[in-house]
Amino acid sequence: MQSKIVLLPGDGIGPEVVHQAQRVLETIAKRFGHQLQFSEHLIGGIAIDATGDALPDATTVACKSADAILLGAVGGPKWDDPNAKTRPEAGLLKIRKELGLFANLRPIVTFDELLDSSPLKREIIEGTDILFYRELTGGLYFGPSGLEELADGQQRAFSTAVYTTSEVERIVRMAALAAQKRRNKLTMVDKANVLEASRLWRRVSARIMKEEFPSIEYDVVLVDSMAMHLLSRPTSFDVVVTSNMFGDILTDEASMLPGSLGMLPSASLGSDGPGLYEPIHGSAPDIAGKGIANPLATILASAMLLRHSLGLEAEAAAIESAVKAVLAAGHRTADLVRKGQPSLGTVAITEHVLAALSV
Ligand code: IPM
Ligand code: MG
Repeated sequence: MQSKIVLLPGDGIGPEVVHQAQRVLETIAKRFGHQLQFSEHLIGGIAIDATGDALPDATTVACKSADAILLGAVGGPKWDDPNAKTRPEAGLLKIRKELGLFANLRPIVTFDELLDSSPLKREIIEGTDILFYRELTGGLYFGPSGLEELADGQQRAFSTAVYTTSEVERIVRMAALAAQKRRNKLTMVDKANVLEASRLWRRVSARIMKEEFPSIEYDVVLVDSMAMHLLSRPTSFDVVVTSNMFGDILTDEASMLPGSLGMLPSASLGSDGPGLYEPIHGSAPDIAGKGIANPLATILASAMLLRHSLGLEAEAAAIESAVKAVLAAGHRTADLVRKGQPSLGTVAITEHVLAALSV
């Protein structure tokens, strides 16, 4: 099989981890006899520096004709000025919108080998296996927003959460289909006691579940109590579906269950066209360039890429087993050990993954 993969390394540790994931993909291609054609493009702060635009047209064009996209991270202190004309994050939001990537899948799975790396108690987190479906192209992120000067010298700013029936339908449906293939349970998270947009979510979601998925165990939880339940009973959740902003916040919270952000991949999908895969961690400017970033989240994102965009399940599973084998053998990057304990760098841990893939 021949496939075109666009790499968007971006900022901070992005290039370091993306290039290691590329080595893993190349190894898989060789072992399973596939042709993967890589091309690299600009996004984020590095794109602003080079072109003045966080998402240059050349990047969008390349992404649109690709089979899949692997992204590192965007952003960093260099581009953090609140008065700047454009920000690196704008590039990421724009590519999501341009490609219609309305569903952001964020699996939160604890690795048995890393249970003691979590700040939470082992008996609470053991066995956690949650799949978040975060809506990604609507809500507060994309609704009308503005800033105005008031006569009394104050400023007034607003951001609006907007959803339509069909935007809710398609993400709930996608999440429900995933639940059917897992433990048949779906939790919808909203703030329907306060927000009109959440009340739409609640009605539409209840209807879809009743009409199309009557055998799925379905419940609704308010976002504030979800923040609590995620820490007190994470193993009781299977698939969780929620709006853009709630999903952004809850998945960062949930990332502490497995112990390190450095282990968590994500996939952003539309109804057709290429998917975009990335680690959920950011650009980590404090450790950029030091060669110590954990590449495993991006390597696991490349497994999701093979599974969801290229339909290569055995290849994806091979990467996931290799990562597990590396952890089981006791190899750790700095984020996974106590301060001062010995650890491996970005390239060294990747070498172990490549070795595990070759046996
Ligand atoms: C994420 C990130 C992005 C978001 C930022 C970088 C725009 O936090 O993917 O969760 O808020 O969606
Ligand atoms: Mg986020």
